[in-house]
Amino acid sequence: MFFRVFLVICITVGLFSCSAPKKGEELKDKGVVNLYSQRHYDVDRMVYDKFEKETGIKVNVISAGADELLAKLENEAELTSCDLFLAVDAGNLYKAKQSGLLQPVSSEILNKNIAGQLRDPQGYWYGQTMRARVIAVKKGLKTNYPELDYKDLALPVFKGKILSRSSSSSYNQALLAAIIAHYGEETAFTWAKAVKDNFAREPRGNDRDQVKDIAAGLGEVALINTYYLGKMQKSDDPAEQKALAEIEIIFPGQSGFGTHINLSGAGVAKYARNRENAIKLLEFLAREDIQTEFALNNEEYPVGNKFVSKGILAQLGSFKADSLNLELLGKYNAAAVTIFDRVGWK
Ligand code: FE2
Repeated sequence: MFFRVFLVICITVGLFSCSAPKKGEELKDKGVVNLYSQRHYDVDRMVYDKFEKETGIKVNVISAGADELLAKLENEAELTSCDLFLAVDAGNLYKAKQSGLLQPVSSEILNKNIAGQLRDPQGYWYGQTMRARVIAVKKGLKTNYPELDYKDLALPVFKGKILSRSSSSSYNQALLAAIIAHYGEETAFTWAKAVKDNFAREPRGNDRDQVKDIAAGLGEVALINTYYLGKMQKSDDPAEQKALAEIEIIFPGQSGFGTHINLSGAGVAKYARNRENAIKLLEFLAREDIQTEFALNNEEYPVGNKFVSKGILAQLGSFKADSLNLELLGKYNAAAVTIFDRVGWK
């Protein structure tokens, strides 16, 4: 019921704030691009302002969770005002593509600027930024486990020491999807079960809360996305900065499949009225100077073929990233969710 009410509110807000043009009004609407965005970072508006200034194309944003935005797109169908759908997980982009909500785009600029594994093989979506899911450990532990891997989180030595957020997090689902893609469902099941049996407490909170709980002594090992390190370092909350000082970071999988990566990315909506503007914005987002803005202001890795780190990311150093095509994170998402349910990873 709540979901339905929320959806109606979303649709109402959406239609008014983006003032969808009626049929035959396409020409009037050349000057805008309407985004449905799952992203929620300050750097985004800064980048959109820059785009508006350079191109004169106004960027309208509707923000909500991925499920809400996908349902909204589906309900609105050809009446949608959405031109570009932005998500923070390849799985959500895959869902949008599979549901017929996106259209393919081919662009030399996008193909040149974005690494092959970070864009859809048919051009339905393109990576905007890249994130790495690393292991945070209690300070001092890294000396004992310099090459700690995802698979090691299943070892009995970590009984009662692992902190995790919920399996409803798309970040955890994507990691398990990657493990399925590499090793198959059976191995993924065994791993998830053993990791869950090692939990220090029931899953709760977000990535930053796991770091805070390490600092509070509730556990010793957690999975976090790299960009939260920057957010904590720049946080106004002294507790976050303090917690950060209590942990060390390990890039897992360096002698295995590499560190699991995911992306924030975008695809042009199937019924986009401002298709050309949407493509212009996509190309703008992939530009080197804009990629640098994302790296410096939001600690996200560039999607270019070379992972040129800047700022805090540079301090973390380079690493071997998983070379999996990220489309597979979407392909195995449902299997990952089923495994989490079966092992009781809440
Ligand atoms: Fe996040």
